[in-house]
Amino acid sequence: MRSRRHSRERRSDVARRAAAPPRAPAARPQINPLRAGLRLEKVPEPACVVVFGATGDLTHRKILPALYNLRRVGLLPAETTILGFARRPLTDEQFRADLKEAVARFSRVPLQDALWADFAAGIFYQQGEFHDPDAYRRLSQRLDELSVARGTRDNRLFYLATPPSLGPTIIDQLGRASLDVEGRGHGWARIVIEKPFGQDLESARQLNRDVQRVFRESQVYRIDHYLGKETVRNLLVFRFGNGIFEPIWNRRYVDHVQITVAESLGVEGRGAFYEEAGATRDILQNHMLQLLSLVAMEPPIAFAADDLRNEKLRVLRAIDCDWTAERLARDVVRGQYGPGWVGGKPVPGYREEPEVAPDSTTETFVALKVEINNWRWADVPFYLRTGKRLAKTATEISVQFKQPPLALFRGLQAEPEPNLLALRIQPDEGILLRFVAKVPGLGLDVRSVNMDFTYGSSFVSDAPEAYETLLLDVLLGDASLFTRADEVEAAWAVVTPINEVWEAWDRGAHRPEFPNYAAGTWGPEEADHLIERDGRRWRRL
Ligand code: BG6
Repeated sequence: MRSRRHSRERRSDVARRAAAPPRAPAARPQINPLRAGLRLEKVPEPACVVVFGATGDLTHRKILPALYNLRRVGLLPAETTILGFARRPLTDEQFRADLKEAVARFSRVPLQDALWADFAAGIFYQQGEFHDPDAYRRLSQRLDELSVARGTRDNRLFYLATPPSLGPTIIDQLGRASLDVEGRGHGWARIVIEKPFGQDLESARQLNRDVQRVFRESQVYRIDHYLGKETVRNLLVFRFGNGIFEPIWNRRYVDHVQITVAESLGVEGRGAFYEEAGATRDILQNHMLQLLSLVAMEPPIAFAADDLRNEKLRVLRAIDCDWTAERLARDVVRGQYGPGWVGGKPVPGYREEPEVAPDSTTETFVALKVEINNWRWADVPFYLRTGKRLAKTATEISVQFKQPPLALFRGLQAEPEPNLLALRIQPDEGILLRFVAKVPGLGLDVRSVNMDFTYGSSFVSDAPEAYETLLLDVLLGDASLFTRADEVEAAWAVVTPINEVWEAWDRGAHRPEFPNYAAGTWGPEEADHLIERDGRRWRRL
């Protein structure tokens, strides 16, 4: 079964390559020799990428630099076309100049003028109001023209880089203009939707209905950029490409798991957005629950989108979501930063940030204990914490193993430390294994030591940006690293009850005493109590 599936994939890759048009020699970009042969076969078909919200921050910081870098390493065909759609009146030339500045500023490698000139020849702009049917008729016409002029074979990728409130309008208008139609003389049509995907379970369900009224699920790519990070992708390789970890990856051997997404940054001028989101909706519902599902999932039957997503979904559905007020008070801690010091500089408290209410109860920190009610993880707590303005920026998953059954060497060590496996997502990407070793000498002294693998010293190639990986995957039609409708809803089912209880408390007599941690620290003391109550400690990062 598995080998048939693989050979089918190989055949379709071959067909794709055979169907790709020859490239004009002058336009041929430099191929990074490190990737030649490895990823070359994965060059997608030509397509037109329509970016809604083309003059915004996300387009400037992430989408365009990612497309430019894919082109730079030869992973985008020369015909690739970008059509910006936004309200501002701009000419193609003005739009190109605007993007050149953005790419020069935000690309991970310096912009090369010759390559940019070639890339920019495929960039166009279309002014329009998002709710105006006429704008979509013009868009449709323009796409037809560009498909012929540029050879994009009528393949269309719609990227919603707009505020979430505009999503349903754009999707509806795309449907009315039949821009979602595929096949029968059309190429493919796909849509990328950014997070936040809804505000709670009900709004996410509604958004899924809005999307699915127009697009089939296989055309929809809900982006969570954490899934595009190299080290997050490596988690799957680490777990399922090695034989030695899987047998101990369960309740028999694992004592508990910690997941930390710590940021030293504050809300960075996004006060208005953050007031609506808070740490729970901004990070926990998506990035953290995705990390958790990758760590906890069963091995998928194949490395294919739905097989992976089915397993992640099963984990999310196994999370105990029965957040009674009593359990919430015990197992979930929320926090908000006050003024403090970060990197030797004084920083204001959250309530002093622009566009934030002076009595805001929005949480900038959350720590919680999660239980996964399944055969593998019953009684193994997962401790999660995330926050802004913490002591440092670090994302890590640590799996702490049980102590050996007989403590032969207890008393020899200052403090017996259990085995630990830490997967460092960022920065200093790598994997650390802690174990006990004998201290050299005539006596018998034992101490914990670390076996440390770092990406930087083991590999010479640069890791791509998450958006490069994800955009390439959308263009290739590979949805493995994107969240499916049911997954998003299952994740909201975990966090929505928490938000609802908090909101009820805030309206009543239970308003939190915020701020409850100083910027530049590791969050409120209650977060330490949460884990220490169970005889464990947060790992010092
Ligand atoms: C985003 C959040 O999704 O992720 C931001 O909205 C957060 O608040 C960011 O800062 C963190 O991403 P990264 O890649 O810097 O860890």
